[in-house]
Amino acid sequence: MRTSPSGGGRAAVICGLGAWLPPRAVGNDELAARIDTSDEWIRSRTGIRTRHFVSPGMPTSRLATEAGARALASAGLETVDAVVLATTTPDRPCPATAPLVAHRLGLTGRPAFDVSAVCTGFLYALSTASGLIAAGSADSVLVIGADAFSTIVDPEERSTAVVFGDGAGAVVLRAGESAEPGAVGRVELGADGSLTDLITVRAGGSETRSTDVPPTRADAHFSMAGQEVFAHAVTRMAEASRTALADAGWRTEEVDRLVGHQANARILHAVGEQLDVPRDRIVIHLDKVGNTAAASIPLALAHGQSAGELLPGARVVLTAFGGGATWGATALTWPSLRTV
Ligand code: ACO
Repeated sequence: MRTSPSGGGRAAVICGLGAWLPPRAVGNDELAARIDTSDEWIRSRTGIRTRHFVSPGMPTSRLATEAGARALASAGLETVDAVVLATTTPDRPCPATAPLVAHRLGLTGRPAFDVSAVCTGFLYALSTASGLIAAGSADSVLVIGADAFSTIVDPEERSTAVVFGDGAGAVVLRAGESAEPGAVGRVELGADGSLTDLITVRAGGSETRSTDVPPTRADAHFSMAGQEVFAHAVTRMAEASRTALADAGWRTEEVDRLVGHQANARILHAVGEQLDVPRDRIVIHLDKVGNTAAASIPLALAHGQSAGELLPGARVVLTAFGGGATWGATALTWPSLRTV
C-alpha cells in the first residue's frame, strides 16, 4: 500500500529530531552473569554490545516525553497541532499513551493517539502524521517512537532477553513543499496477519482475558520465532526499499545511507546485499541500544545525525519489519536539523 502525498505541492517536512535513553545501561556481560549466554554469542549473532533498560516504575510515557521535548527543542517549537506515538508497550492497555505524553509536553487539547505496528510502528506513525499534514488537518505534528521491551520480555528467556532495549526517538513534521529537503515522500507499507504468531505476547488482550484461565509464564511474555522472522525481515525490507527507491526515482548507487530497523546487524547487512548498498552506507546503532522496536529508526536517525553520518542533502532510505507482521520503507533527502 502506498500512502502520503504524491506529486508536487504540500508535504510534511522533518524539522526537528530528538532521542532519549533511560540511564541504566546493561552490557552483554551483565546478562551473561545471569542467564546462559555470552558476550561472544550476542555480539556475533546480533552485533549488540549494550542496551538501556528502564528502571522500575519508569513507563513508556516518560521515554516518549523526554524524546518529544528534545525534538520540539530541535525544531525550535513550543507547540504542534497533533501528537502521534508509535509504541508496543503503552503505559496501560487503556487508554492510549499519547494523550498523557501530549499533556506533559504542554499540548493538552491537541489530538493525540497511539499507533501499533511493533517495530514498523515509527514508519506507520510517520505515514499517518504526514497524511494529516498533506490533508490540511494539521500544520505540524510530533511523531514519537517509544518502547520499553524490557517490561514484556522474559528476563530468563535468553533468545529474547539479550536482543531488546528501551528508548525513544521523535521527529517534528511541519507543512512544507514536497521538493524540500526533509520532505516525507510516499511511505510504502504492508502487513500479513497470517504471521501474527511469529512475534507476539499471547496473553493480556481480549483473546485471553475473556476466559478465566490464568496465562502461562510463556504466554504472559513476548515471544519471537527468530529464524523465521529473520528471513521475512530481509525479504520484506528489501522489497519495500526497492519500491521506495522507485517512487523517489533513485538508483541504488545514489543511496547515501540505509537506516533500517535495528534488530540484528546480520539482517541489515543482508538487506544491503539484496539492494547492493555497501556496508559503509548502512547506519548501525544497535550495538549501543539493541532492538528498541518502535524507537529504533528515530534513535538511529539521531545517532546518524550526531555522528555526522547523515549530512544535509544525503539520500536516505528508511525501512522496517516488525510484528503483525508489518513492514515499510520510504526515501527522503536529509534536512539540516539542529542537534539538541
Ligand atoms: N545465547 C546463547 N545461545 C543462544 C541464545 C543466547 N542468547 N539465544 C539462542 N541461543 C541458541 C539457541 O538455543 C540455539 O541453540 P541450539 O542450536 O543448540 O538449538 C542456537 O543459539 C541458535 O538459535 P537461533 O534462534 O537459531 O539463533 P539465531 O542465529 O537465529 O539468532 C536471533 C536469534 C538473534 C533472535 C535472530 O534470529 C534474529 O535476529 N531474528 C530476527 C529478529 C528481527 O528481525 N526482529 C524484527 C522484528 S522484532 C519486533 O517486531 C518486536
